Amino acid sequence: MNTMNETVGHAGVPATPITVYAERRARITRAMGAGVAILPTAPERIRNRDSHYPYRHDSYFYYLTGFREPEAVLVIVAGDSPRSILFCRERNLEREVWDGYRHGPEGARERFGFDEAHPIAALDETMARLLADQPALYYPAGADTEWDARAMRWLNAVRAQARAGVHAPDRLNDVRSLLDDMRLVKDSHELAIMRRAADISAIAHRRAMRATRPGRHEYEIEAELLHEFRRHGAEFPAYWPIVAGGANACVLHYVANSAPLAEDALLLIDAGCELESYAADITRSFPVSGRFSPAQRDVYQVVLAAQHAAIGATRAGAAWNEPHDAAVKILVRGMLDLKLLPGSLDEALEKETYKRFYMHRTGHWLGLDVHDAGEYKRAGAWRTLSPGMTLTVEPGLYIRAADDVPDALRGIGIRIEDDVLVTDTGCEVITAGAPKEIAEVEAWMRDAR
Ligand code: GLY
Ligand code: MN
Ligand code: MN
Repeated sequence: MNTMNETVGHAGVPATPITVYAERRARITRAMGAGVAILPTAPERIRNRDSHYPYRHDSYFYYLTGFREPEAVLVIVAGDSPRSILFCRERNLEREVWDGYRHGPEGARERFGFDEAHPIAALDETMARLLADQPALYYPAGADTEWDARAMRWLNAVRAQARAGVHAPDRLNDVRSLLDDMRLVKDSHELAIMRRAADISAIAHRRAMRATRPGRHEYEIEAELLHEFRRHGAEFPAYWPIVAGGANACVLHYVANSAPLAEDALLLIDAGCELESYAADITRSFPVSGRFSPAQRDVYQVVLAAQHAAIGATRAGAAWNEPHDAAVKILVRGMLDLKLLPGSLDEALEKETYKRFYMHRTGHWLGLDVHDAGEYKRAGAWRTLSPGMTLTVEPGLYIRAADDVPDALRGIGIRIEDDVLVTDTGCEVITAGAPKEIAEVEAWMRDAR
């Protein structure tokens, strides 16, 4: 049976051929040159007694394997006889009655295209052998204390053979540094999934806008989002949705989602699904009544203009900080016009007084993780954007009530967040399906009433 082209896709996404994962392993093998890399997947976590948190594999491990079972480790041997080895759970008919299908080493090797596969129970003994006479161990050091201890035991087991002439690796490298650079630029398979995750998340935001009414609770709107994610096949929310009415929007990580929605309030929703392990991340802020008040409109227009400016600054060749700096300039001008800040633009920028109302950065890498892998600065210089990178653009203004804040603006919190793909000529907004222009938002909500 030719199993190399079997696929794991679903939910309206073109399936990723299994060969793609093998090609990624070949790339990292070349980047290592020599040595052995070890990547465990994530552990299962108990919520209480016999109940587990929903299982989510490790992103690095998944990126190189496409394998979703817990209790699995990928080992890559670089050098003269390069190979990739999976350690995983054995078939166990009794456990499979309770927990479901397991591939087992032989099934996993055939289906996922590893050179070798072994039972997870053979890991310790095999590692001590594999690390003999290798120059380097590539390993996600510090990610998990149990794995750290285990890796040190392997190294010591090899060192114990010194008098037999066996040499232990004397370099310990972080395997994630090599992978971060690979993960930063998405391939066509990843982009197809991310576009679909973005579409589903945009549909969910549209549904949430139409479901919003004065007197409904934040959690009722959260339920609309989760319903829409799941009904399209998304496995999880990519992070817990923020559904923040009124002044709750000024709490950046508000997740209680428990309050009733006031007629004169705005509702900020930050929600995105995870599909085929890739995240979307969208924020929209809109009036509960369906119509922006003049004060809400004034603040919203500032954030929207800042977002347009940041998107305009997102292009291949730009430095990472350019979109942020473009957004900050517009936001600060807005803060001055709205009488939130005294003084001049230059003064506010220099003294960073704007941070009282805009205290986060304008974006982050996006991919398998919502705050995805990849450095932002290297050797003191901001990274340069290049085609295939995906990031968020998410300026906001958060105006907590205070004596020196104009009455009409107190408790207004607004963020507008889109996901963008850097292209040769600029960027493509992949979350454009969620309305954000004022007329668009009001029309969308009006038509549902
Ligand atoms: N939802 C998390 C973020 O916007 O970064
Ligand atoms: Mn974000
Ligand atoms: Mn977000």
